Amino acid sequence: MEKIVLPDIKNFHKIDVYIVNGGYSAAKKAFAQSPDDIIDQVKKSGLRGRGGAAFSAGLKWSFMPKTSAKPKYLCINGDESEPGSFKDRQIFEFNPHQLIEGILITAYAIGAKIAYVYIRGEYHKWIKLFNIALEDAYSQGYVGEKMKQKFGTEFYCDIFIHKGAGAYICGEESALMNSLEGKRGYPRIKPPFPAQNGLWGCPTTINNVETITNVPPIINKGWEWFSAIGEQKHPGTLLYGISGHVNKPGVYELPTGTLLTDLIYKYGGGVPGDKKVLCVIPGGSSMPPIRGDQIEGVKMDAESLKTVGSAIGTAGVMVMDEDTDLVKVLARIAKFYYHESCGQCTPCREGTGWMLKILNRIIAGNGSISDIDLLISVANNIEGNTICALGEAAAWPVKYMVTRFRDYFEKRVSKEVVLPVANKVHSMRGTAIPLADIKT
Ligand SMILES: Cc1cc2nc3c(=O)[nH]c(=O)nc-3n(C[C@H](O)[C@H](O)[C@H](O)COP(=O)(O)O)c2cc1C
Ligand code: SF4
Repeated sequence: MEKIVLPDIKNFHKIDVYIVNGGYSAAKKAFAQSPDDIIDQVKKSGLRGRGGAAFSAGLKWSFMPKTSAKPKYLCINGDESEPGSFKDRQIFEFNPHQLIEGILITAYAIGAKIAYVYIRGEYHKWIKLFNIALEDAYSQGYVGEKMKQKFGTEFYCDIFIHKGAGAYICGEESALMNSLEGKRGYPRIKPPFPAQNGLWGCPTTINNVETITNVPPIINKGWEWFSAIGEQKHPGTLLYGISGHVNKPGVYELPTGTLLTDLIYKYGGGVPGDKKVLCVIPGGSSMPPIRGDQIEGVKMDAESLKTVGSAIGTAGVMVMDEDTDLVKVLARIAKFYYHESCGQCTPCREGTGWMLKILNRIIAGNGSISDIDLLISVANNIEGNTICALGEAAAWPVKYMVTRFRDYFEKRVSKEVVLPVANKVHSMRGTAIPLADIKT
């Protein structure tokens, strides 16, 4: 299978190797066309955002005003802080120039002369690597004012790296813009949307790292080529990050619509000890979990996952075997969202804490059947009642884990479930951690 985002080319991260393999030719091709033509091709390609919501990239770009008295901005979201998501850092490390080229083309299409790449603060290694690539691109005239000479165009664009400071909420696009402005990372009430009123009140487009890395091949090979890969309504490839109870955790670039069972058994190498799969979260910790006995035939793309009541999110697949303590897993997830809530909205600020308290009560052996219904009620009261989607991110895993594994939770509160002695969960990097070491 041809790879689009992470091609199997040795030293592709180096600018010379990238150029020898056709690098920066898509930008040249794009600058010879009108910005509207570029937007049109990306729209027709069917490229959808890889940052969680799977929104059409071309459509989003078309929301930018054609003329503006104010400057326009492009923000690239590399905050990547969702548990179970570790794909964008592969691009910073192995294909930074395709990202840079995608930024140039996108900036040209929307009329931005400045782009910010917001990178998760803990990604020291990847910030360094991306910075090296950016410096090389600048020194060879592919970025900045020298672009005019290099590409023979009036258009040029500067790219700045901005390091996050450890808050998951700054991955939410409006919090990201506040953070870039030097303010506290509070999400903004929408509308107005970023295309109208974004960074410093100016028209802004925000896209994920993987989304933008897809752009140069679309321009070079054509939208028809891209739209024929994978699933028709969500074409292309995805960087599937597989973690948890699999023999070969990692990031695998495969077409959209790849079977979930293939990800687990063919690419992920199966479950250690040939144990059964109890639960899978298909798109990062905020997405609705699926029961292990319902994964047969499930395709991994935005539309197919809807049919089984889940979503593609960031395509971070978290696998849990039959010996996993789901209550502890859920409490750990709940603790994350409780910790990361920015506190602006009462349902999210209070509800995340309540869910954690109830789950801890069940873990301590003091839970009751009414606690199960209370968990669902709290989750329902958060969902749809908050400024940003962290509310849903916190509510969904709780609501759907509890409803889909109600039998498990009922047995647990009635103390019928006997947990195995050597019960373990895996970290996102696939390292086994004894559950006792996870403080809830
Ligand atoms: C709490 C929260 C955290 C998010 N974190 C990220 C992130 O780390 N990276 C990302 O690309 N999108 C993240 N998003 C989604 C962004 O708000 C935005 O939709 C995305 O960057 C748009 O890019 P795309 O259209 O290319 O997917 C997050 C959303 C929420 C609600
Ligand atoms: S939903 Fe949570 S994280 Fe989002 S703005 Fe409200 S309190 Fe903050």
